[in-house]
Amino acid sequence: MPGENITQTVSDRYARAASTGEHMCCPTSYDMSHLKTFIPEEVLQISYGCGTPAGLKTVSAGETVLDIGSGGGIDCFEASRLVGQTGHVIGIDMTNTMLEIARRNAVIVAGNLGYPSSNVEFRKGLADAIPVEDDTVDVIISNCVINLAPDKRKVFREMFRVAKPGGRFTISDIVADQPVPQYLIHDAEKWGECLSGALTLTDYMAGITEAGFVGIHLIKSSPWQRIDGIHFFSVTLTGYKLPLNAPTAGARYATLRGPFSRVVDERGTTYTRGIPQPLTSESTLLLSQPPFASHFVLSSDPVTLDQADPRWTAVLPEQTPCVWKGDYALLAGPFLEAQDDDHHLYRRGEPLEICSKSLKVLESEGYALHFAILNRAGQHVTGGAVTCSPEGACC
Ligand SMILES: C[S@@+](CC[C@H](N)C(=O)[O-])C[C@H]1O[C@@H](n2cnc3c(N)ncnc32)[C@H](O)[C@@H]1O
Repeated sequence: MPGENITQTVSDRYARAASTGEHMCCPTSYDMSHLKTFIPEEVLQISYGCGTPAGLKTVSAGETVLDIGSGGGIDCFEASRLVGQTGHVIGIDMTNTMLEIARRNAVIVAGNLGYPSSNVEFRKGLADAIPVEDDTVDVIISNCVINLAPDKRKVFREMFRVAKPGGRFTISDIVADQPVPQYLIHDAEKWGECLSGALTLTDYMAGITEAGFVGIHLIKSSPWQRIDGIHFFSVTLTGYKLPLNAPTAGARYATLRGPFSRVVDERGTTYTRGIPQPLTSESTLLLSQPPFASHFVLSSDPVTLDQADPRWTAVLPEQTPCVWKGDYALLAGPFLEAQDDDHHLYRRGEPLEICSKSLKVLESEGYALHFAILNRAGQHVTGGAVTCSPEGACC
């Protein structure tokens, strides 16, 4: 379908949903009892997100927040509470019915929060032509919208344009574990359901990286739907627009602590556990941010670590047989490639089949945050246990 048709189909679908209060889309994990204390039911009823990007401690007092595809305004209103009266929230959406509901409720929410006037404004606009000035936004949020845009790369470029240097994004969206086939892409109904336009995790993260953001990493993932063998799942991702010429506190080397034995960052630099690697000032800044900071020792002189050093971290697989149950692991940043202590090489966004032993490793602290796990087995699996060779060849 041509881009304009997609946009019109999606807008009609959400206008219809908003005017009927229909339930749509995906599981979120809002604390509704908290939101109900200040957000009217009319807004909560048309919450069509697939995550909670504003509620993840990503927004701080006094900041300017932009919500792309703000719908009835649920995340803008939570952001309004978090930024306080000195902060500012801009919601953009292309659908008039959504904007009317959101604007009407902004006044009520401000009153409920005890603000003299609303700190939220809703602007009409498209995600790929955001009606916001360059370099003005501290935090960009978006909840289940970018998959609906015909040209995602343009949206990612727009996000980068409006973010302040030193700004960041936290977006929830639907992605797929493999390319969505043409027969689904051209199914108009499935565009509105956040399926037809879903990118693979690899393409999604590559698009954001190409736009200029760095340190892109997973905050949360959850499985959603399986259609014709394609797994659709929701991810919440964060990344940074680095500040220009920021001071770097003197660190010139980074040593990978683990638990990965080797990683490749988004600029193609390889870090091997225990071996110091000289840094550029840009890398120093990035590696000081979460989630990198806990994986590296940053130092002004080279620091080598060995296994006896308490800063060295590793998660070794248990010496038990492996059971293959249909689980797949997708590395979801912040590295392009990462290797564990059991012969696995994970590439960003690419599903890699793992057995029960590896699943346990990836569920441990240090690894868990970096992986989305899917199960592709169509039915219950009764696979027998497999004993690995000493070289670990089976799993
Ligand atoms: C799935 S709903 C999510 C709404 C809201 N973020 C929430 O969590 O409830 C998608 C919203 O994005 C808007 N939208 C979809 N594509 C858009 C685009 N290309 N530009 C601007 N808004 C868009 C729709 O009008 C709709 O309000």
